[in-house]
Amino acid sequence: MTASAAARAAELRRLIEEHNQRYYQEAAPTISDREYDELYRELLDLEQQHPELASADSPTQKVGGAPLTAFSQVTHRAPMLSLDNTYSEEELAEFYRRLQRLLPDEKIPVVIEPKVDGVAVSLLYENGKLKYAATRGDGTVGDDITQNVRTIRSVPLVLKGNAPTLLEIRGEVYMEKRGFAQLNEARIKEGLPPFANPRNSAAGSLKQLDPSITAQRPLGVVLYGTGAVEGAELSRHSELFPLLKKLGLNTAERWWIADSEEDILSAIHELDRIRRDFVYETDGAVVKVDSFKQREALGFTAKSPRWAIAYKYAAERVQTRLHDIFIQVGRTGVLTPVAALEPVLVSGSTVARATLHNAEEIQRKDIRIGDIVVLEKAGEVIPAVVGVRADLRVGSEREFQMPTNCPECGSTVQKDEAQVATRCVNAQCPAQLRRRIEHFASRGAMDIEGFGEAMVTQLVSKGLVGDVADLYSLDAAKLGSLERVGDKSIRNLLEAVRASKGRPLWRLLFGIGILHVGVTSSRALASHFRSIERLMNSAAEELQQIPDVGEVVGASIHAFFQERGNRNVFERLAAAGVRMVDDAPAPVADAAASPFAATTWVITGTLSQPREEIAETIIARGGKVSGSVSKKTSYLLAGEDAGSKLEKAKKLGVRVIDEAGFKKMLD
Ligand code: IVH
Repeated sequence: MTASAAARAAELRRLIEEHNQRYYQEAAPTISDREYDELYRELLDLEQQHPELASADSPTQKVGGAPLTAFSQVTHRAPMLSLDNTYSEEELAEFYRRLQRLLPDEKIPVVIEPKVDGVAVSLLYENGKLKYAATRGDGTVGDDITQNVRTIRSVPLVLKGNAPTLLEIRGEVYMEKRGFAQLNEARIKEGLPPFANPRNSAAGSLKQLDPSITAQRPLGVVLYGTGAVEGAELSRHSELFPLLKKLGLNTAERWWIADSEEDILSAIHELDRIRRDFVYETDGAVVKVDSFKQREALGFTAKSPRWAIAYKYAAERVQTRLHDIFIQVGRTGVLTPVAALEPVLVSGSTVARATLHNAEEIQRKDIRIGDIVVLEKAGEVIPAVVGVRADLRVGSEREFQMPTNCPECGSTVQKDEAQVATRCVNAQCPAQLRRRIEHFASRGAMDIEGFGEAMVTQLVSKGLVGDVADLYSLDAAKLGSLERVGDKSIRNLLEAVRASKGRPLWRLLFGIGILHVGVTSSRALASHFRSIERLMNSAAEELQQIPDVGEVVGASIHAFFQERGNRNVFERLAAAGVRMVDDAPAPVADAAASPFAATTWVITGTLSQPREEIAETIIARGGKVSGSVSKKTSYLLAGEDAGSKLEKAKKLGVRVIDEAGFKKMLD
């Protein structure tokens, strides 16, 4: 009995793997989903009846598993690098000409493949078995996400055929475009916030501590590179694709090989024509030198290999209908017109709203309610209405009028001196209050988790919070009176509030939201005064002399503290135990010898830590951090997907350093 059960289980596993392969790798299933599910069910039943048959390699083990408590860390065998990128065909051609200059008289074939817009992963197979899967992390050490990656059907637990003894393989986990749209529909129905784009939802899915949630997400993988390899001889990148296929690993459906500028450009054009039909989102093409020997000769720059570049396709434009224009009241009372759009997918995100900035902008672009508008979005950039199709008007379109009263509190609005912004000047306006509290609690300010828009709206409308100081008198009874807030959330919220009491002074100053006072001036003020009391009692002249503060900001701070009500908020914050003084800075062993002394830094792109933390590290070592690149910038710390700041730094000849280089400097 057991012998035949064992034989049937083996047969079922083989069949299921085979159908997985047909479905995922070849996109040509030969059985229906239902038949597949039946095979799967039969195997599951057999394994449950005969636990001795269960095996970690079984396809049934790809779903579920015990929830994780946290991710442990994995050190990559070979570092995970990132790429230089460009949006310009001319720069791409220049990349190839540089290769030709560096390797004169050699033929230099390059491979062109889709740049998959997902989350980078590294899979390690030992003797054909999946040992672990990890995120990129800082390039050297990543999170162990094996439990989650095991649930992805196109990641085999065991390789087919003759597997190398060690195969560290890199690729991108993506969420299918179709599945993404369905997932979002379901989330909206359940009252959950939708994901912004397939990449974010793939990243969110991989970060789940409970793999059974990941298992429900429509994820896939495309593999495109190697780390450490033992027991296989590869001399060119193009040999990798057939090898991966043989092993049962998924690769991009199309790739090209070229050895001239012209052929490279024609490949990226062809890719652009067909990429919308791929099941995953792509945002560009990656061009890589094919020969490993040539790669070795070319080597690396500070940030990335000289033998590869990512070319990103230009911003995508779509058209959609402008249903209405509504008004949002900001934290300083500015009324911002926002477009309510017929939802459209543009560059991977569903867009239903876009800011129209101000009335002047609407007039300049002649945007009318009911118009078909042109939306543009590039990469990380927020979608913008760039124009209208006046030629498609039918006559029922309406011109927009800025309201004369605040839509929230009804008080009369005022134009500012420049006559551009319209402002609600009622300091008690509930919309402004909500925005001020949201800002105070936000990650960049006091970082109080759980106090987002929905929570703050409830707190303000129930009259539980009238200013930021009231956050510190919330208790279990008050929070318990809110809708959908259970005991666990109450504990978390109170703990988050408590933890925020010890935040550094600049966060408090920034969080309070004084007009014109941003992160840089908050930092400058905190390090100059080190105490709220000293700041509060300072003269306008003293304020204006502080670098990074200046005249306008200085006057605004001075006026702020002249208001009795504002001083009172600080008194109540202090009484609640919120930190009001900064300790003296930790003395740097030899400040002048620190490589950071008197340097100015700009931080950009995606890094392994929040930017604020990195900024604190730099400042503690005697450096300064600024928000924009100029000739005075000493270093640009560029993370993944750095954009315009990186371009500007290159233009100005500012030194660019990546996270690995930065860590070296710290050491
Ligand atoms: S090659 C040193 N190939 O894009 C080589 N990367 O901007 C490193 N990506 O970090 C990567 N598709 O996360 C490569 N076909 C592809 C890719 C790809 C997407 C991602 C990857 C990489 C980033 C570079």
